[in-house]
Amino acid sequence: MSQVREIVQLGAEVLRLTAAEVLDIHAPVIQNVLSDMLTTLADTHGVGIAAPQIAASWRMLVVASRPSARYPHAPEMQPTIMINPRFEPVSTAKESDWEGCLSIPGIRALVPRYKQIKISYLDRAGNAVEQHLSGFIARVFQHEYDHLDGLLYLDRVLDNRDIISETEFAKLMAK
Ligand code: NI
Repeated sequence: MSQVREIVQLGAEVLRLTAAEVLDIHAPVIQNVLSDMLTTLADTHGVGIAAPQIAASWRMLVVASRPSARYPHAPEMQPTIMINPRFEPVSTAKESDWEGCLSIPGIRALVPRYKQIKISYLDRAGNAVEQHLSGFIARVFQHEYDHLDGLLYLDRVLDNRDIISETEFAKLMAK
């Protein structure tokens, strides 16, 4: 019964809110949003989605790294639902790489992120999970996590000249 929802775009107020902690994972409204996040993400070429992107201001995200035309070098993984996620960097080391966002189509930018992080979250059944993430998947997590705090990746860009069009990004990748 899940449906593809509209992905709200840059300028939508909900993308700037601090999302609410989920208190009852089993509530139908929460489970419905989770199902719609998975269905909506599967309808795109994205590698992650956060609940605020479908106008549901809850602390829930999906990380779903997979290779695609958008991210040719992305590792393959099962879409993973993370509820009330937290993270801390394992070291202060950051690296910059290209990101995009389903809420900001047509744009890519270089964004510094922690290389290695330790995360914890509740899964869809309410089990507590702890994991170490590194590289691209750690990047996706940090990008989606920012959505829960009303932050967008463009807020993290160090130099406006690191913001480019997707067309020019494709040329860059083809080199
Ligand atoms: Ni995004």
